[in-house]
Amino acid sequence: MNDEKLQVAIDGPASAGKSTVAKLVAAKFSYVYCDTGAMYRSTTLKALRNGYKLDDEASILKMLANTEITFKPGEKQQKVFVDGEEVTNDIRQENVTNNVSTVASLSGVRKELVNRQQQIAAAGGIVMDGRDIGTTVLPDAKVKIFLIASVDERAERRFKDNAEKGIHVPLEKLKQEIEERDYKDSHRKVSPLTKADDAKEIDTTSMSIEDVVNAISNEIVKKQSV
Ligand code: DC
Repeated sequence: MNDEKLQVAIDGPASAGKSTVAKLVAAKFSYVYCDTGAMYRSTTLKALRNGYKLDDEASILKMLANTEITFKPGEKQQKVFVDGEEVTNDIRQENVTNNVSTVASLSGVRKELVNRQQQIAAAGGIVMDGRDIGTTVLPDAKVKIFLIASVDERAERRFKDNAEKGIHVPLEKLKQEIEERDYKDSHRKVSPLTKADDAKEIDTTSMSIEDVVNAISNEIVKKQSV
């Protein structure tokens, strides 16, 4: 094994457990973790606060040019800041969750955020999670993982996550929202959610978090030794 600092791309549908395991894998290898979904969510939050129509790409792009999105490690979860204001919880609220697919389908927004993500990852030693990391953002990443899980399992995970944050949405509604987001994320014109040909698919439905972290860690160690 050498300690080459690799790029690790983790993609998959909503609530497949990407951010939970990505964070743990990053900590294990002392890599930086970057949650790209948080960047689309932050853009959506600021656009909603500004009262923009979410298909008004010109206004949103102008806004984005003057928007700083930054991350800081937190105890339980990574903290997210927009223009210096902490928005870690605000970007997980229902109004953002249910509108983010619209903003994420704007090609100019994707271009700008992909650019920022590539800069963050340039030095390696990064675990980045999202929908298009292995296909578009880091096509040369040495480790590519595609995480999937059943809709039922994902809705239950989101339900538990929400409960911990004091957010209450019925399970059936969460299931429906996940299905809608899957559809939109997989059918949009620009960079739809697809598994890269060279990504390793892991179905996490009946796996523990630790098992998933170990499976991904094994992939990293394997690639570090080639
Ligand atoms: O992973 P998440 O639920 O926080 O992602 C929020 C939304 O952002 C999701 O609907 C899809 C979109 N997204 C994307 O299009 N590309 C990414 N790389 C990450 C997220």
